[in-house]
Amino acid sequence: MRAAVLYYPGGPENFILEQRPVPVAGDGQVLIKVKAFGLNRSELMTRKGLSPSVVFPRVLGIECVGEVENDPAGVFKKGEKVAAFMGEMGRAYDGSYAEYAVLPGSILTPFHSHLSWEQLGAIPEMFQTVYGSLHLALGIKKNETLLIRGGTSSIGMLATQIAKKEGLYIVATTRKPEKEQLLLDNGVDEVLIDDGNLSSKVKASFPAGIDKILELVGTGTLKDSLQCAAQGGTVCMAGMLSEQWSISDFAPMEYIPATVRLTMYSTGQIRVNKEHFQAFIRDVEAGNIKLNISCTFKLDDIAAAHRLMDSNSADGKIVVVI
Ligand SMILES: NC(=O)c1ccc[n+]([C@@H]2O[C@H](COP(=O)([O-])OP(=O)(O)OC[C@H]3O[C@@H](n4cnc5c(N)ncnc54)[C@H](OP(=O)(O)O)[C@@H]3O)[C@@H](O)[C@H]2O)c1
Repeated sequence: MRAAVLYYPGGPENFILEQRPVPVAGDGQVLIKVKAFGLNRSELMTRKGLSPSVVFPRVLGIECVGEVENDPAGVFKKGEKVAAFMGEMGRAYDGSYAEYAVLPGSILTPFHSHLSWEQLGAIPEMFQTVYGSLHLALGIKKNETLLIRGGTSSIGMLATQIAKKEGLYIVATTRKPEKEQLLLDNGVDEVLIDDGNLSSKVKASFPAGIDKILELVGTGTLKDSLQCAAQGGTVCMAGMLSEQWSISDFAPMEYIPATVRLTMYSTGQIRVNKEHFQAFIRDVEAGNIKLNISCTFKLDDIAAAHRLMDSNSADGKIVVVI
């Protein structure tokens, strides 16, 4: 099989396309024929050497969609469509940047769909993150205000659509004024330009603060995001676009405004159940949700796909189709 292997962390040029034997499924594992996968920021960080636990050489890729090729335990049928994500794939063991992957059966979600592999490839990690952040962590409700910090990210764009469907008023940020129209076209009610100090702008438009806040930029802006929240409001930390994920000298009573709740969501810890996953696919099939797929690449062009993500100009999900 063909696989994109990373022998050393570094730039996108470090991916080596090579021929490897198709791996064999062991105990509790399933061999998947990979059909497509979405690119993720965490893969970009791993590529740069910012994931200390990852040992090289490694085939990256924390998610994919594909068909079951062989399940020695007989739980999954050959040809069954499955999605796989997280559970340390592409980190502790080889992931989806290949024609085949051997994955633990426990991280596979079977589904039915007539969508193209390109569309399906965009869904797993993006949907799980958005659903988990909005419903499980933030507990969004109709008529609430929602601030999405990092609105032009693929997660931010899907979060906008899902929250809009639920009847929330959406405020979203970008650092670049020229991206305002992109956000408005995606359903955002109000755009704020993020210069790092958002709370003063938010308080000018929403004196009582915002009910729910999805923080995707990182710990560098988290304190300011907490200041944007209404009394009793909730901030969910779910992304680190700025590649900052720790806070030195954390003093909770100075950091968190009284009554504001700070939570987080990670797909690695809590998986959304398969019925919600299937319902989301049906929503996409019905045209109720538009997947913002920015660009589609072949496996041979994995370096170009990473370069696009590095450039922050994708404005949607980057997908690789095998
Ligand atoms: N919690 C989880 O389980 C989970 C799962 C998947 C992903 N994530 C995280 O969610 C975040 C979004 O992922 P994604 O794949 O949707 O990202 P993406 O589409 O690659 O995001 C691109 C956008 O990020 C913004 N950006 C980049 N660098 C930034 C910086 N230093 N400061 C502020 N904004 C910056 C840019 O927006 P502008 O140029 O418009 O400002 C750019 O348009 C990532 O941090 C990712 O790791 C979390």
